[in-house]
Amino acid sequence: MAKTTTSPETHPAPSAATARGRDQQPADVFVAFGITGDLAKLMTFRSLYRLEQRGLLDCPIVGVAVDDWTVDRLRKHARAAIEATGEQIDKDVFDRFARRLSYLAGDFGDAATYERLAKAIGDATLPVFYLEIPPVLFATVVRGLSEAGLAKTARVVVEKPFGHDLASARALADELHRYVDESQLYRIDHYLGKMGLEEILHLRFQNTILEPVWSRNYLSCVQITMAESFGVEDRGHFYDPVGALRDVVVNHLMQVVAAAAMEAPSRGDPETIKDAQVALFRAVADVDPAHYVRGQYDGYLGIDGVAPDSTTETYAALRLEIENWRWSGVPFFIRTGKRLPVTQTELRLVFKQPPRLGFGTTDRLPEPNQLVVKLDPSTGIRLVVDAHRADKPGIAAIELDMEFADEGGEGPTPYETLLHAAMIGDSTHFTRQDAVEEAWRIMQPLLDAPAPAHSYPPGTWGPPAADTLVAGHGRWHGPWIATLPTTTPGASMR
Ligand code: BG6
Repeated sequence: MAKTTTSPETHPAPSAATARGRDQQPADVFVAFGITGDLAKLMTFRSLYRLEQRGLLDCPIVGVAVDDWTVDRLRKHARAAIEATGEQIDKDVFDRFARRLSYLAGDFGDAATYERLAKAIGDATLPVFYLEIPPVLFATVVRGLSEAGLAKTARVVVEKPFGHDLASARALADELHRYVDESQLYRIDHYLGKMGLEEILHLRFQNTILEPVWSRNYLSCVQITMAESFGVEDRGHFYDPVGALRDVVVNHLMQVVAAAAMEAPSRGDPETIKDAQVALFRAVADVDPAHYVRGQYDGYLGIDGVAPDSTTETYAALRLEIENWRWSGVPFFIRTGKRLPVTQTELRLVFKQPPRLGFGTTDRLPEPNQLVVKLDPSTGIRLVVDAHRADKPGIAAIELDMEFADEGGEGPTPYETLLHAAMIGDSTHFTRQDAVEEAWRIMQPLLDAPAPAHSYPPGTWGPPAADTLVAGHGRWHGPWIATLPTTTPGASMR
């Protein structure tokens, strides 16, 4: 028999989807604890409704909360909540969705609640328990589920924060692990459900033109900007004990760092992808407190729920160092703040300065090349290059822009992606405990010795001290100001 050879192009490698799909089994009931709360109102009902619309919802939904509601009240509340997000309700879709809903009122600390829940879910064998409740109640609920014999084959979906520092993150996990295995825990960081974040990995690793330039051979620095033009508003009670570093840096923006800096996972299964992410985090040095700038916008102290002498930061800028062959010497600068001039999140690679040549140039120092991945409120890619222009003497920077909304549309919202993934048992987009701990380890020096917060006027780019942070690597660039998605209204909502 003739021997056949297989070229790399034809070798049948398992696709990411196949690798992911191997362990997946659909849930047979979805139970949401805290269904009468804010998160459900803002995100959950709309996401579940949209999954229903796309034919992706396939099981009953049981809401559990302490309020003395009827299922009719829950259905009306769900309808109003979905409408309030701007979604146009299709009657048939909503009716189908509403028929799945049932409601169970009960105290989370009372064993009788779980006994009634066991009756309500009947002979379901693969329940998903979604805990959209304050983290202090996680262990109470998971213990209640476990004692009622409901946790054995369950997936338990929890919302951030996962602790408030390294020690408390470990303590929380230890407590949960008394009742459920790590593989049963689905920790939501909604950034992992954003289309733009996944897009970074595809851009990097499926384009020969791009992969090699994401390294110290070409880059001067990487800048991540998450700017929000709104303030803390009515979230003072939640935000004041937390601050920007814990609210969005240690979780959301570290996910952006991971996608931008990790090596290509060798397979598409969730554990291999998470291993690659954790390997990257292990190479990130503890942040030097000298490389951290905190800010607080003027007026923050007047917000309901904020302590009158609060020093909580509403702005954070910092410099990360990654000690490996790809990134050594390329700082990752991160900045985020509330009440900045725009709402915009992006990842920006800033390339090294080209040499100054005698050929056709003036004294002008060229703008460094930049590759921008815009993550929010819409997704897109921008390339900043120098070119000769007819409308200007000599050479100037030009921008090559692409909006994903114009190239095949935006994907589903992060909560649709994540709740669906939890239901089918795909844990790829959920955070594993070792990654949570690594992220806290990196930030811990900043929590141990927080620098004073500089004040900044609302509508500005934060305290001027943040500019000195990037000294030696040019300046803060951008962000690339958002244009609204042209095809999917509201597609950028969490
Ligand atoms: C949340 C934070 O986790 O993320 C908020 O608590 C922040 O303070 C929000 O505004 C940002 O997420 P997104 O997807 O709206 O940019």
